[in-house]
Amino acid sequence: MSYKGKFRVWRGEGGEGRLEDFTVEVNEGEVVLDVIHRLQATQAPDLAVRWNCKAGKCGSCSMEINGKPRLGCMTRMSTFTEDETITVTPMRTFPVIKDLVTDVSFNYQKAREVPSFTPPKDVKPGEYRMQQIDVERSQEFRKCIECFMCNNVCHVIRDHEENKTHFAGPRFLMRIAELDMHPYDVADRKDSAQEEHGLGYCNITKCCTEVCPEHIKITDNALIPMKERVVDRKYDPLVWLGNKIFRR
Ligand code: SF4
Ligand code: F3S
Ligand code: FES
Repeated sequence: MSYKGKFRVWRGEGGEGRLEDFTVEVNEGEVVLDVIHRLQATQAPDLAVRWNCKAGKCGSCSMEINGKPRLGCMTRMSTFTEDETITVTPMRTFPVIKDLVTDVSFNYQKAREVPSFTPPKDVKPGEYRMQQIDVERSQEFRKCIECFMCNNVCHVIRDHEENKTHFAGPRFLMRIAELDMHPYDVADRKDSAQEEHGLGYCNITKCCTEVCPEHIKITDNALIPMKERVVDRKYDPLVWLGNKIFRR
């Protein structure tokens, strides 16, 4: 079964753009990215869209579909009615390069600002011994496909461009939490999470968790525990006493 689907797609580059209407054939079993590809093949050969795996694993095809961050390759056309107009726009938080392709280099910059895993000097690779529970805890975070839809949707930077320099976004605050929970990581992550990476800006709206295509519980399992670890440290009486003594 096929039908003519109504699409409204963002076209533009260099800070200028507009929504354009198209009618495109939709076939049973297709996803939004299939239809975007048909649009390219039949009516708009210069339409820019980023994709790679078509299997929800590379994180390339992030876009906004009817205003919600979604992977184009994992959004089934059957979730819309046949008479619905489907609006497809680029991720709003990052600058548009062309059409549906955004410049996501903000995220790579933030990734570079998080110091890598730092094991103790006297433990060699191969000598790490971890409890199963510690292995499983980080397993969830390592499912991340770096689609950056969590960073795209977080209001701290979506609505406030000026916060971008001070806020790593949920993706990288989760990375910091993952490393802080690692029993062999000796880097001091708690102060920097708060002071350099903007953990305090997160007011737990959970929009990041809602859009994560890997269903990672970013807020409950990474951001809230990290906030608790920061607070525990701040109000730890020994740390407090140490700060008093050494600041004299
Ligand atoms: Fe995407 Fe989820 Fe990773 Fe965020 S945490 S970048 S939403 S996969
Ligand atoms: Fe933003 Fe997620 Fe916190 S959307 S405010 S990082 S819970
Ligand atoms: Fe790879 Fe969609 S094309 S996640």
